[in-house]
Amino acid sequence: MKTALVTGSSGLIGSEMVSFLDERGWRVHGVDNNMRRDFFGEHGDTTWNLERLRRETRRFEHHDLDVRDRAGIARLVAQTRPQLIVHAAAQPSHDLAAQRPFDDFEVNAVGTLNLLEAARAHAPETPFVFLSTNKVYGDAPNELELVELETRYDYADPARREGIDETCRVDESTHSLFGASKLAADVLTQEYGRYFGMPTVCLRGGCLTGPNHSGAELHGFLAYLARALRDGLPYRIYGYKGKQVRDNIHSYDVCTAIMAFADEPRPAAVYNLGGGRANSISMLEAIARLEELYGGKLETEYVEEPRRGDHVCYISDLRRFRGDYPGWELRYSLEDILAELVGERVEAPA
Ligand SMILES: NC(=O)c1ccc[n+]([C@@H]2O[C@H](COP(=O)([O-])OP(=O)(O)OC[C@H]3O[C@@H](n4cnc5c(N)ncnc54)[C@H](O)[C@@H]3O)[C@@H](O)[C@H]2O)c1
Repeated sequence: MKTALVTGSSGLIGSEMVSFLDERGWRVHGVDNNMRRDFFGEHGDTTWNLERLRRETRRFEHHDLDVRDRAGIARLVAQTRPQLIVHAAAQPSHDLAAQRPFDDFEVNAVGTLNLLEAARAHAPETPFVFLSTNKVYGDAPNELELVELETRYDYADPARREGIDETCRVDESTHSLFGASKLAADVLTQEYGRYFGMPTVCLRGGCLTGPNHSGAELHGFLAYLARALRDGLPYRIYGYKGKQVRDNIHSYDVCTAIMAFADEPRPAAVYNLGGGRANSISMLEAIARLEELYGGKLETEYVEEPRRGDHVCYISDLRRFRGDYPGWELRYSLEDILAELVGERVEAPA
């Protein structure tokens, strides 16, 4: 039986990965200390998701372990010798990073180094998947010329239609402290691939979403929007007239991308991974569509000042990943994602 180690296993991506692997006969060791609750308060509490995993899986073992615990992480990797490592534990918010810079860096950058070093010592042949972020580019994507359409911004140059690719520069731009700590982890992950020849990959996520997101105002765009509509909470739009664009990918499709890499790993690989143009939506469009689906009206408040360094229009160019893994395809359309968020069950095709 194959064994995997998944960090952040009570979070959106980690928990989807646990279920995905468990269904396919893997033994999965999950690492999560519910730090999301500490970061975001009650809305961020992931206990419900851990309990769900315990109910629904067969070979999942949970470890209430902090990725900052270097010795504990090394011990766990030595004991379990996993054939796949998926590192999805993180402090994921810009705003929170500014309030708690040391926690942010220690979890995101040092936590990743702890895992990489444990993998080098005890499982150097094992595919190592790091969930990185498009924030490694800072706000450099905002330098592209844009056109303002009725409900969204878009790229002015038709040659840019597919969006931002991996050659976008990563320095001399505003990242937020979160983007900086993730970039440190991203470069470290690449270096363990290049310098030590380990099969590492950085998947630079767009908006990752799905039903198992403990949506909080500071993190989880669509999940929190859906929650605000359902619970009648006011929703704040930060700048750009609400025309900022995000591309959304379902957590299931992130798992299939991870498995595509795990089956055919390449050292020091870097890919942008999002929903691409087909799954892109602006804030205004998302609000309108979710209001339609819920049959309600969202109470919005417009804040003139955008979040610092926030992308105006970000669409992930998926061509590099698709080129290397032509068998991979998105199973969840944007409509599927939205329908699921409002409570309709959307089955992932087998
Ligand atoms: N959700 C997105 O839109 C998005 C976009 C781009 C990149 N990413 C990246 O993908 C990864 C997964 O994101 P997610 O949306 O599943 O986040 P999440 O917050 O839902 O899950 C992260 C999990 O990590 C756990 N965690 C935090 N600190 C920990 C620590 N010190 N030790 C152990 N566990 C800890 C949290 O409790 C949480 O359950 C993160 O690295 C994130 O930066 C996410």
